[in-house]
Amino acid sequence: MSLWTWATWPGCDMVITIDGPAGAGKSSVAKRVARELGIKYLDTGAIYRAIALILAEAEIRPDHDEYLREALGKISVELGDGKVLVNGFDVSGEIRTPEVDGLSSVYSAIPAVREALLGLQQEQKNYGSIIAEGRDVGSVVFPDAEAKFFLTATPEARAKRRFNERRAKGEEADYQQILAAIIQRDKNDSGRETAPLKVPEGAVYLDTSDMTEDEVLQFILDKVREIPEK
Ligand code: DC
Repeated sequence: MSLWTWATWPGCDMVITIDGPAGAGKSSVAKRVARELGIKYLDTGAIYRAIALILAEAEIRPDHDEYLREALGKISVELGDGKVLVNGFDVSGEIRTPEVDGLSSVYSAIPAVREALLGLQQEQKNYGSIIAEGRDVGSVVFPDAEAKFFLTATPEARAKRRFNERRAKGEEADYQQILAAIIQRDKNDSGRETAPLKVPEGAVYLDTSDMTEDEVLQFILDKVREIPEK
């Protein structure tokens, strides 16, 4: 398997991680932190989504260990400029459907998938400072990160945000369905054996239920700016 990210700089000064459950606002805030600090944004969920999509399309079931490992060896993922490409195809839109929400939660629980991705994610810090966002970035991928955050919010607050996002895009949305899917994903992501979602050691815990995105951004920037320069 290979992973390419665009816009790389040599050397690395800092790794920032944001972990947390679905809908806690990690992606939007991580993107803004990256822009403010001029560093790279690593959306690890997008990688798991892209892999789940391609494996499901190839009809490789999560329990087909042998086929799965062979297929993983042939996948190339490229991230950059807000786009996600798998084996050269732009899947940026396709990976954001409710169907792929569920698929990615299932495929990401498979140890072979996580193993294939671990080193590739870690290598990204060789190309410059990054902010990585996901479910295990502060606990497993970058345990020595200079700044770690755990963002969460009540399932209801997270479901409401997803509902509003979908409505704003003009898509159909059912609040109760979204809430049930979020609760199910929390269960999958926290209950799996390999790299379950948890608060990483040394992470700053932030409940964003009653915070605006601007407030979360400011909180993170203030903490990051407290880090002494190397
Ligand atoms: O953050 P997201 O909703 O785009 O992530 C999609 C799925 O991928 C999520 O259900 C859990 C999984 N994931 C993971 O297991 N580890 C990560 N570091 C990031 C995402």
